[in-house]
Order: sequence, then structure tokens, then C-alpha cells
Amino acid sequence: MSTKIIVIILLVLVTTTLLSLSILHRPTELIEKEEQQDMGEKIKLPEPCNTSNTSVETALSQRRSIRTYSRDTITIEEVSQLLWSAQGITAPWGGRTAPSAGALYPLELYLVVGGVEGVDKGVYRYRPEEHKLEKVTDGDIRAELADAALGQECVRDGAIDLVFTAVYERTIGKYGESGIRYAHMEVGHAAQNVYLQAVSLDLGTVVIGAFNDSKVKKVVNLGERENPLYIFLCQLEERAN
Ligand SMILES: Cc1cc2nc3c(=O)[nH]c(=O)nc-3n(C[C@H](O)[C@H](O)[C@H](O)COP(=O)(O)O)c2cc1C
Repeated sequence: MSTKIIVIILLVLVTTTLLSLSILHRPTELIEKEEQQDMGEKIKLPEPCNTSNTSVETALSQRRSIRTYSRDTITIEEVSQLLWSAQGITAPWGGRTAPSAGALYPLELYLVVGGVEGVDKGVYRYRPEEHKLEKVTDGDIRAELADAALGQECVRDGAIDLVFTAVYERTIGKYGESGIRYAHMEVGHAAQNVYLQAVSLDLGTVVIGAFNDSKVKKVVNLGERENPLYIFLCQLEERAN
């Protein structure tokens, strides 16, 4: 085979791969434009660490749901690490710490700040691509969120709450109704990451699934197509318990 033919075959292969990648990602981008308009002031988070002295096995064996705490505040470094563990970018093409069906990333992640050193109380959206926080609303909403979570006091008392939501349209576009199931599976992957990261940081955390969806939507100021799936709360662990 002549060199010319080999070059032509290679060019065709590269072009078709690039085209299929852009087609694969187009629906997400279109929906993101609608759902993720820039809303407010942005805070650059500290770079996350990808090493620690805690092995995966240790984190797995120590993972526990913890609802009582010993401190009111956590640091922005700890917040950065928790958000990264949930949805941080780990590959140049946009791959994340948690897997996603078709790499369509239906999850969104909100941070409710009650006690983070140097960060105003309020609701922030995590922007994985830039590893930044984007302000959504001002003020402490933890008590209202606890009320939406059927009065669970730990939601009010945590230094932060993380709220996971899903935009089902991102996965339904490609997978039909299965896309809803995929989003539910994905939040499980992300949630387990946060649990394990919390062990490594010596933070207590618990997932909250018992809540009133429409109340959470209202309190966190979610978009029309965002569905709340999980609330996480985190604070420094009370080792005595
Ligand atoms: C889908 C789901 C929903 C949950 N919802 C709540 C909740 O609303 N409130 C709560 O205190 N714990 C909640 N939990 C935490 C469980 O109570 C906890 O995982 C269980 O008691 C086992 O304890 P462990 O996580 O320490 O192993 C939930 C866990 C899951 C997986």
C-alpha cells in the first residue's frame, strides 16, 4: 500500500472519530447552555490533592454515616476536596472522578455554606470545568433546607450541605427513559466518592434522601429541569461518638 493511501485512511479515521465525539457531546452542551447560565460572582477553589495517607481500603472500612459534630466551620481546602471527589475533572477531555453514562454528565452539584472559613453564607453552584464556585443566592438557608428535609436537624447543623441534582434531559436525549435510571446510578457513584473522601479528611458526613422535592427546589433556587436527588452534610467529625 502506498504512503499516500495510508495517509488518506488515517485522515478519514481521525475525522470520523472527531465528528462522532462532537455529536456525542452536543446534546449536553445545548442543554447546559439553558440550565447553566452564568449567575453570579465566582470563587476559585484551591487545587485538589490527588494523594493522601488514607488507603482506599481504610476509607472503605471506616466509612460511616455521622450525624453529630464537634465544630462549626470547615476550610475552603476541605470544601474543594469534597466537591472534586464528587464531580471533579480528571481528564483533558472532561472525564470526572465519577463515571457517567455516555459521558453526558446529568448531575449538578450545589454547595450550601453555613460555616466555611472566608466564604459568605449562601448557595453556590460547583463548576467542575473551572473548579470554581458560582454564587446563586446570599444568606444561610440551612434551617429552611432542614425543614424541606422533613425537619432533620443535622441538615441545619452541618457546616455545609451538598445538594446533588440531575437534569434528566441530558441522558434521556440519548438513552430514552433509561436515562433517568442512569442519572440515579450516577449520583450513587458520586455520593460514595464523597463518603470516602470525607473519611480521608476526617470529616463526618451523611447522605439525606428523605426530603420534599419541591421544597428543596424552591429553597436552593433550582432550575425548572433540575431534580434534587441527594443532600449531603459535612462537618468535622466528633471522634468521641
Ligand atoms: C438512599 C439513602 C437515603 C438515606 N436517607 C437518609 C436520611 O434521610 N437521613 C439520614 O439520617 N440518613 C439517611 N441515609 C443514611 C442511612 O441511614 C445509613 O446509610 C444507614 O443507617 C447505614 O449506616 P452507615 O451509612 O453508617 O453504614 C440514607 C442512605 C441512603 C443510601
